[in-house]
Amino acid sequence: MAPSPGETAEGPSPTFLELLRAEPLGELTVLDVGTGAGRLALALAPFCRAVVGIDRDARQIDEARKRAAAAGLANVRFVVGDVEVEEYAPFKPDMVVAHLCVSDAIAERAGRVLPPGRVFAFVAFHTDQWKETARPSRFAYGEVGAKRLLKRCGFAIERLEVEREVATFESVEQALAAAVALQDAWKADGRWVRYVKFLEEGGRTLTRAHLVAKARKA
Ligand SMILES: C[S@@+](CC[C@H](N)C(=O)[O-])C[C@H]1O[C@@H](n2cnc3c(N)ncnc32)[C@H](O)[C@@H]1O
Repeated sequence: MAPSPGETAEGPSPTFLELLRAEPLGELTVLDVGTGAGRLALALAPFCRAVVGIDRDARQIDEARKRAAAAGLANVRFVVGDVEVEEYAPFKPDMVVAHLCVSDAIAERAGRVLPPGRVFAFVAFHTDQWKETARPSRFAYGEVGAKRLLKRCGFAIERLEVEREVATFESVEQALAAAVALQDAWKADGRWVRYVKFLEEGGRTLTRAHLVAKARKA
């Protein structure tokens, strides 16, 4: 499947990486929450003093460790943990980043751990992501919700923008083919039935939308 607007085939979007690289990464320990197999952590590690990636999925963390070893990266480590439960202070981060894993609990923890002047940056699912399935992700934010959350957690917003791509199809078959890689997950969570209904009623689009944010602790 084609990458989403917030990412390339290799990883996070150039816009997001550029926002992060504008910081003095060489002096910073960066905490990547919901790191998965470490895509963002591994992309950042060569520029950072240190990177810690956390995810609750032990298999993903295993994979991230293998990738770090294969790349010969000695300044990145990966930890199994729940980023909505654990506090981040033990990792002593100077910056917190999150790629497609953002929630109120994560922003609150970033707000508690970062001193004034430090950055929390993320790519979140936008509420319009796959809106044709009529079921926003629990990790999805609109602009208003993200602004409110960041303000509440003590951050001043430096960048907040939506990266959006609306694919348009000529037929139902084409529209189904575009979502085939998501079929199992969508069948499990009820989205598939809603997407099929949308197509049966004449819809021929599939929207991908991410919210890119960079905010600094006030
Ligand atoms: C869409 S994936 C993104 C992974 C990675 N950031 C990337 O862009 O490749 C979301 C990740 O968040 C992790 N995740 C979700 N909730 C979590 C939690 N409460 N604690 C730790 N990890 C979590 C999932 O296990 C998954 O690896």
